Amino acid sequence: MRKKIVAGNWKMNLTRDEAQALTKSLAQRLKEKATLNQRVLICPPSIHLSDAIASAGPDGPLEVGAQNMHQADSGAYTGELSGAMLLSHGIRTVLVGHSERRAYFHEDNHLLKQKVDAALGQGIEVVYCFGELLEERQGATHFEVVATQLKQALFHLTADQWSSIVLAYEPVWAIGTGVTASPEQAQEMHAFIRQTVAAHYGDACAQNVSILYGGSVKPNNAAEIFGKPDVDGGLIGGAALKADDFMAIVNAAG
Ligand code: 13P
Repeated sequence: MRKKIVAGNWKMNLTRDEAQALTKSLAQRLKEKATLNQRVLICPPSIHLSDAIASAGPDGPLEVGAQNMHQADSGAYTGELSGAMLLSHGIRTVLVGHSERRAYFHEDNHLLKQKVDAALGQGIEVVYCFGELLEERQGATHFEVVATQLKQALFHLTADQWSSIVLAYEPVWAIGTGVTASPEQAQEMHAFIRQTVAAHYGDACAQNVSILYGGSVKPNNAAEIFGKPDVDGGLIGGAALKADDFMAIVNAAG
């Protein structure tokens, strides 16, 4: 059965001391929680990953993932990180396809397919991020755009490989804007995503994949969004930078 997941994407925020303080606070608070029915993941900037792994511990309740990786195994790619490097620091999850990578670093579905293959080839779980632009929703092409983002980057995988895929639907118009998709809009799109996976891979595969919602999730709206049947948690940006807010969102997931 699929798991609820609350993941924090710190983006390019926090200095080393700030990152350490936040990681330690989250690790401590999660250890103190009596029951934890969901996975909790933080994705700090890559320079803070080994600190974060050291503070969170390898098998503790706080998981640590990377925000990006390169598709090649190694080579002359100045400034980049490979999956093998992540793995050698104990990182077993990576975000792929975040809208900021698509917009500012020109990552398209075909490149993202290569990144997905590189990560899975190393045994690294992928949180595949995707979602439509405002003009695509206004032009009523959002379902088509989302289906294409799924098919071009993921539908070459085998059904078995889907056990290492988490989906994160993040409508671009809701990211960092304070405008959240309504719970009904989120549910409508998540159900469509699950149906699209089911049509290609069958119902068992579709029912097992966690589909997270991202875009202006805050402590005051998380419970309502997470309460929808096809929303399996969230990918949190701004509110993941404060321990109180992030823990409130974790608690809202159950
Ligand atoms: P915000 O929660 O700041 O809108 O960011 C969402 C996001 O992009 C997470 O990856």
